[in-house]
Amino acid sequence: MNTVILGVQFGDESKGRVADYLAPNFKYAARAAGGANAGHTVVLDNGTKFVTRLLPSAISHGHIKCVLGQGMVIDPNVLLAEIKDCENRGISIRNRLYISHNAHLVMPYHQYLDGMREDKTSSRIGTTRKGIGPTYEDKCRRNGIRMEDLLEPHTLESKIWRAVVGWENDIPTTTPVNKLYNDLMVCADVLRNNICDTSELLNSTDEPILFEGAQGTMLDIDAGTYPYVTSSSTTIGGILTGAGVSHKKIGKVVGVFKAYLTRVGAGPMPTEIFNSDADVIRDIGNEYGSVTKRPRRIGWVDLDQLRHAITINGVDELAMAKMDVLSALDEIKICVKYFDDGEQLRPIYKLMPGWKSDISHCTKLSELPLAAKDFFNAIQEELPVPITLLSVGAERSRIIQI
Ligand code: IMP
Repeated sequence: MNTVILGVQFGDESKGRVADYLAPNFKYAARAAGGANAGHTVVLDNGTKFVTRLLPSAISHGHIKCVLGQGMVIDPNVLLAEIKDCENRGISIRNRLYISHNAHLVMPYHQYLDGMREDKTSSRIGTTRKGIGPTYEDKCRRNGIRMEDLLEPHTLESKIWRAVVGWENDIPTTTPVNKLYNDLMVCADVLRNNICDTSELLNSTDEPILFEGAQGTMLDIDAGTYPYVTSSSTTIGGILTGAGVSHKKIGKVVGVFKAYLTRVGAGPMPTEIFNSDADVIRDIGNEYGSVTKRPRRIGWVDLDQLRHAITINGVDELAMAKMDVLSALDEIKICVKYFDDGEQLRPIYKLMPGWKSDISHCTKLSELPLAAKDFFNAIQEELPVPITLLSVGAERSRIIQI
């Protein structure tokens, strides 16, 4: 059944891990939105870590056809580096990679603009500085460069001129259009045969598709904590428009969340932890940005926010990740709802005793220590859909199917 994996918190929920786990059941893996602001870490059984930024996380499964959808913004140099990295690992990708002709290119001036704004603005968003926002801006003002333009060298240079002129007050006047053009033509030589109509490809196949969402629901340009959001649709609608498929192509939506909360960059996070528990979770969970290496902000799991994300995405099932990270804590909090004190919403917590023992060897729910089972059940009771996957360790196999 065609399945969508979506992040239902602030990103970094371990979507890559879940995609990698589910991949054997699918023939296609498709990304729909975002770009190299994503960093999906997959840990292989031999302990090797593998981070994908543009390619779907299911890439390491040799039978999977990988699709980069039309809603994506693609830095061609990052893509080439990622393809090379795969090849160095013995993962051949070129003959099973399909890049939408409609996807937009992240250009060097987009990255310049993103970084410059972050440096200059007092109220910064805390972006990944990968040029994501400015690329979507060019897309919306109909001034972007698309993958299909790589196939049309005779019009490409004038399109770059037009785009550069569009930013003339914001980027250095010496921006070398010839160099931009020549660099793109090098990329075109490698990618030419992979560029196609991926919407047509996905709509016409009967083989099962895994749609991999990027970022998380609360970073969605419309549904998220605006303006502290990314520039794409990270929710279910973004999968449809970004992959270019009909809603009838979607069989199931799996929402992925962590047993706690993290956020990178600025913006509201009502359950944020400001004591040493945050450091413990950050260190054990290795909660540092996989793209930017920034320490992630840490909070308690927020079920009110999760219920909202489940509703707006039509989530059918949930995967709860990284429960093992909480094993060192004496006490764990679960935000079950909010209380309006007239001035602001305040989280109401359920306090749970910690289990203080290693749970990574557990292969069934029944093998968890009692306090860990209680924690799991306390979360499940408050949510309207079942948690069907639970990760209890970093290795590929440490997932309990429920
Ligand atoms: P941008 O997507 O680089 O424009 O960043 C906008 C906001 O989204 C910032 O707060 C980033 O930290 C956040 N963000 C973007 N991509 C990710 C991600 O993959 N995981 C977590 N946060 C992200």
